[in-house]
Amino acid sequence: MANDKHATQLLLAFISLALAALVDGASTTAQFRFYMHDTVTASAGSPATAVRVVRGAAPLPGDPVNRFGDLYVIDDPLTEGPSAASPVVGRAQGFYLFASRSDPALLLCADMVFTSGKHNGSAVAVLARDAILDDVRELPVIGGTGGFRGAAGYGLLRTHAFNASTNNAVLRIDMHLSV
Ligand SMILES: *[C@@H]1O[C@H](CO)[C@@H](O)[C@H](O)[C@H]1NC(C)=O
Ligand SMILES: *[C@@H]1O[C@H](CO)[C@@H](O)[C@H](O)[C@H]1NC(C)=O
Repeated sequence: MANDKHATQLLLAFISLALAALVDGASTTAQFRFYMHDTVTASAGSPATAVRVVRGAAPLPGDPVNRFGDLYVIDDPLTEGPSAASPVVGRAQGFYLFASRSDPALLLCADMVFTSGKHNGSAVAVLARDAILDDVRELPVIGGTGGFRGAAGYGLLRTHAFNASTNNAVLRIDMHLSV
């Protein structure tokens, strides 16, 4: 009888240790969507947020506008919804570079910092190949700060709207993070 009680206590102690280890090692996940407004051509009330700072030397095949080596510095607003009037949740700050001689593909390097909403104060850093004509581009997450410190994961980038006469784009990003 006494032995049984002892065994039960041991078992309970073991279970609670195992649970504690599980909880300790558990990571939380965050999935959220936002939109990035890349304004190359300013218009009344909306300044350019993507500015070409280096002009590449080599033309891209079939592309009269962009050149291999074009470098844009960006400070693009991030919003909740696709409209420019939608509440701003942060900014994507960094650059993109036309990094392929043969395809319209960028190297996108940006820190996405959230300044309001659920993730206010946190940021996600991404470093990605952005083949701009593809339906979906993967954004590898290389880290984060604040609530996203040590984050890993990915974003899925889609072109929501593109205006060929201004080169302005609205991009949808679905972020999948484990923290
Ligand atoms: C975001 O966080 C900052 C710093 O904590 C705070 O000052 C600011 O009011 C917050 N903004 C919103 C919109 O919640
Ligand atoms: C593209 O931008 C031009 C210049 O601002 C504008 O006149 C035109 O309506 C836009 N096209 C679309 C499809 O939004």
